[in-house]
Amino acid sequence: MKIKTKNTSNRNSYYTATSTVFIFLKMRAWGLLVSFAVFFIAPLQAASQEEPKLKVIPEDMLNCTVCHGTMFQGNQGTSAPNLLGLPQWYLEGQLLAFKAQWRGTHSDDHSGSEMYAVANKLSDAEIKTYSQYIAALPSVKPATKTKLQGDIKKGEQAYQNCAACHGVNAEGNASLKAPPLNTQGLWYLKTQITNFQNGQRGYKKGDTHGTVMANASAVLTSEEDIDNVLSYIASLKFQ
Ligand code: HEC
Ligand code: HEC
Repeated sequence: MKIKTKNTSNRNSYYTATSTVFIFLKMRAWGLLVSFAVFFIAPLQAASQEEPKLKVIPEDMLNCTVCHGTMFQGNQGTSAPNLLGLPQWYLEGQLLAFKAQWRGTHSDDHSGSEMYAVANKLSDAEIKTYSQYIAALPSVKPATKTKLQGDIKKGEQAYQNCAACHGVNAEGNASLKAPPLNTQGLWYLKTQITNFQNGQRGYKKGDTHGTVMANASAVLTSEEDIDNVLSYIASLKFQ
């Protein structure tokens, strides 16, 4: 096979010079891209089992960070919980629960209603993609763990009522659809237990998992009981 050669040497060197510049520029662009990938993407991938579908916070998810914090770590000031460390099935299930009006539509549930307004505008496909994206992020120990003055020993006893569903280390149980509690801010867990007890969550027909938890919350008969069990959960090793 004959290889076609260029016949004008002038043109040839012009060609070589421009392609060298072009390759150099291309290499710079790739270099930048590679260092970007190493700094921002590699840590995410290393820390997660599941490969995230999306690599940087997508534009349509920046809205979430306004309330949930720049890295979804939660913000007590806006009553928005930490989303890091929550599994995909729970994130998706809760977004669908808001959308189905199981959560966030009780007239006294003010923080829930803020999240309802957001979830109500999402398509099921967006809900799936967003929850896959968040679940693939590395989980971090929550920065703002509200200290509660509960009795850890009494809390440990009370937690025996929770362990069968939430796991001995409060790590959650996918088959029972019970979420991990050991990554969450205590202020948020306390609000939610109170919501279950006051009939603001887990009270709608069709909300099977919410109803299960609403029933389970009845064993905590005082605020002291709640503080005890949450103080015990906070003392568990962070997974
Ligand atoms: C206007 C503020 C606001 C925005 C924007 C927002 N959230 Fe929320 N979100 C909240 C609040 C407040 C709660 C807690 C609701 C409650 O108290 O029941 C919450 C709860 C949740 C929960 C339930 C977590 C759990 O442990 O039960 C998920 C999941 C969630 N948000 C995901 C998202 C996603 C994804 C986005 C972006 C599409 C988003 N949120 C945008 C305020 C917001
Ligand atoms: C029979 C199983 C079961 C038991 C027992 C149980 N839970 Fe739950 N819990 C669940 C399920 C299922 C959910 C998810 C509810 C939903 O989908 O809305 C849940 C949700 C929660 C939430 C909300 C978390 C979040 O991110 O919004 C808290 C807090 C909680 N449980 C605490 C407890 C505590 C504390 C105990 C023990 C006193 C307990 N649970 C006992 C099944 C259980």
